[in-house]
Amino acid sequence: MYLVPLAASTITPGAEKVLRITVVVGSAASQRRSGCLLVVRHAGKVTQMAVKRSSVPHNLLEIHELAVSYASNRRRHRSLDGVSLEIHTGEIYGLVGESGSGKTTLALSILGLIEPPGRIEAGEVIFDGQSLASLTERQLDRLRGAQIGMIFQNALVSLNPTFSIGEQIVEVLRLHLRLSRPIAARKAAEWLARVGLPGLEQTYPHQLSGGQAQRAMIALTLAPGPRLLIADEPTSALDVTVQSQILQLISSLTGPADTTVLLITHDLGILAQFATRVGVLYDGRIVEQQPVEQLFANPQHDYTQRLIQSVRNPELWPGGRG
Ligand SMILES: Nc1ncnc2c1ncn2[C@@H]1O[C@H](COP(=O)(O)OP(=O)(O)O)[C@@H](O)[C@H]1O
Ligand SMILES: [Mg+2]
Repeated sequence: MYLVPLAASTITPGAEKVLRITVVVGSAASQRRSGCLLVVRHAGKVTQMAVKRSSVPHNLLEIHELAVSYASNRRRHRSLDGVSLEIHTGEIYGLVGESGSGKTTLALSILGLIEPPGRIEAGEVIFDGQSLASLTERQLDRLRGAQIGMIFQNALVSLNPTFSIGEQIVEVLRLHLRLSRPIAARKAAEWLARVGLPGLEQTYPHQLSGGQAQRAMIALTLAPGPRLLIADEPTSALDVTVQSQILQLISSLTGPADTTVLLITHDLGILAQFATRVGVLYDGRIVEQQPVEQLFANPQHDYTQRLIQSVRNPELWPGGRG
């Protein structure tokens, strides 16, 4: 642990009281950290403050030795083979891996959505200290959407074509937060404005561009205030400029105070810009997990080295290395 002084560099010995409040230091994705604000009161007055960063981050999600298989042609193939990782509260955790490496299978496991021919063979998923295997189907249902939200590559498939996007947000707010219709309608309008779609409450999904549909999906998913957002290749279907805008939006609407993010992609360049730590999935195994700067500076695995070389523009590398 170490101290970052705000007002004074030392804490007065014998100070009367120390209050601890969780705060956020910095807003850029790469600087996301949480810690404690120490307020030293002396004779009723606040005399000193310092930010004490915790060296033991809280894990919102832990995955231990997860193995998932799919049956095809009378054979079972392990798509995940002993995956372990932790996602710290408030971070953007980047999961990178080539197509078929098991990224979507991992996302579906976290949501308890592995269905036949898929099967969880071993391991455990722990969300905020609770094993998902211990939950009933009803409890899992409540967790999905309310506490863990997910957005996919193609938002137009996930949105309901028969309701306007405003109505869809109203429905999730009523379902998960039990809001009255007028309050939910006001909040839905606020969320659409926040994602850059002001006044589009009455618009139907087919009237939206790909980027607008992904914005609507982000509003729909974040509106109930999930603690974890899983974004599985959220921009792969979009062109490059729109991709960057959507990722900026996700980054700006999430953070330590509200939503932790699992950002899944095959594109390490995206994680260089947006992730705090990165796990590299290769053939169903996490072969490496590091803070993003360290991953680029000192990749441990051959596959990671190849991935880094494929990020052609070194200006995008964290810390401007190149
Ligand atoms: N429903 C399914 N039935 C059979 N095999 C599947 C199914 N879903 C995924 N797989 C297999 O699991 C592996 C990992 O797939 P997936 O998790 O979708 O990878 P990624 O998201 O990294 O592209 C692949 O070999 C894929 O063929
Ligand atoms: Mg996938």
